[in-house]
Amino acid sequence: MGSSALKIYRRYINFIILYLITVATLVYGQKQLDRVYVGERTCRECHHLQGNRNQFNPWRLSKHARAFTSLFKPEAKQIAELSGIDIEPYTSPDTE
Ligand code: HEC
Repeated sequence: MGSSALKIYRRYINFIILYLITVATLVYGQKQLDRVYVGERTCRECHHLQGNRNQFNPWRLSKHARAFTSLFKPEAKQIAELSGIDIEPYTSPDTE
């Protein structure tokens, strides 16, 4: 590498590093957006233990655990239609 090339290299090395960090951040940020629905079984693995980590069983027995099922009722479809929602209430735009 000639001395003038070395000068240019030294001048721009910070920009190159900054550029690479920016690209890496954007790529990592994009990965963060690719979320998946894991479901209750994943949570159960840790949250069914005795003691102060037994949140799963009380939740599973509660009405809250069945809340999603209410979206399959005919009333849910009526409410969706009245609200101008043109997909099935139990679906989401993300799952279509
Ligand atoms: C690998 C084990 C593990 C899995 C799997 C897991 N958790 Fe947890 N969770 C923990 C631990 C440990 C804590 C306590 C963290 C702390 O107090 O710092 C916690 C804390 C929580 C809290 C906060 C409770 C509070 O009182 O502040 C919620 C809410 C929670 N988890 C929900 C979930 C949900 C929902 C899922 C499934 C999507 C899940 N967890 C899966 C281990 C797990």
